[in-house]
Amino acid sequence: MNQQINLKIAPSILASDFSCLLSDVKKVEQKADILHFDIMDGHFVPNITFGPGVVRALRGKINLPFDVHLMVDNPEKWIKPFAETGCEFLTVHLEAAVHLDRLVSSIKGEGIKAGVALNPATSLCNLEYILPRLDLVLLMTVNPGFGAQKFIPEVLPKIKNLRQMAEKRGVQLDIGVDGGINGKTAEKVVKAGANILVMGTSIFGAPDPKKAILDIREKISNYLERKEDY
Ligand code: DX5
Ligand code: ZN
Repeated sequence: MNQQINLKIAPSILASDFSCLLSDVKKVEQKADILHFDIMDGHFVPNITFGPGVVRALRGKINLPFDVHLMVDNPEKWIKPFAETGCEFLTVHLEAAVHLDRLVSSIKGEGIKAGVALNPATSLCNLEYILPRLDLVLLMTVNPGFGAQKFIPEVLPKIKNLRQMAEKRGVQLDIGVDGGINGKTAEKVVKAGANILVMGTSIFGAPDPKKAILDIREKISNYLERKEDY
């Protein structure tokens, strides 16, 4: 049985060569579905990346939806500046949110899709009353802060539980996974119920990033063809 899923590949520019960012992103533009931006503030996570200026600089030059993953304390301060970059998704961490409902309202108020990210050890319980208002839940499959880390397999049942939770409530939810996704782990997360694969190292670290995306797609579609029980 060929089970259809709305698979989206989201290369994370964190793993690109910042000295030639635009030309690296151009390599994936035709084959990717979303471009993922990792915003780190040195407080919520022990690393610093870049701000809205970089997102804005690419916006006019790249024809892909932009997904901004805010790994910052006080995310409420950053909704507006990132909304103004023209991104399509804005994702805040549950662990950094004091007023999650208010944050989601302000993202949606900007006309942007709202996402919530959960660290590996964070329970799904806190999504219970907000799930129908979310467009995306991003399940971290590493501890956020750095690229090229090892996938944490304990998140697999969490992906499955979240997909069941969404289906039970009739919510059309994108479930993203972020960290350590490659040819081996992609199949497992899709099997568990994820449909957005954020991938840094395995795309930008590959000799041919475009081919890396095509290979992943083929792997997933072969897998969906042969499996009987989804
Ligand atoms: C981790 C970031 C990820 C990271 C994934 O904190 O949120 O988006 O770029 O990188 P890889 O695919 O290299 O694990
Ligand atoms: Zn990310």
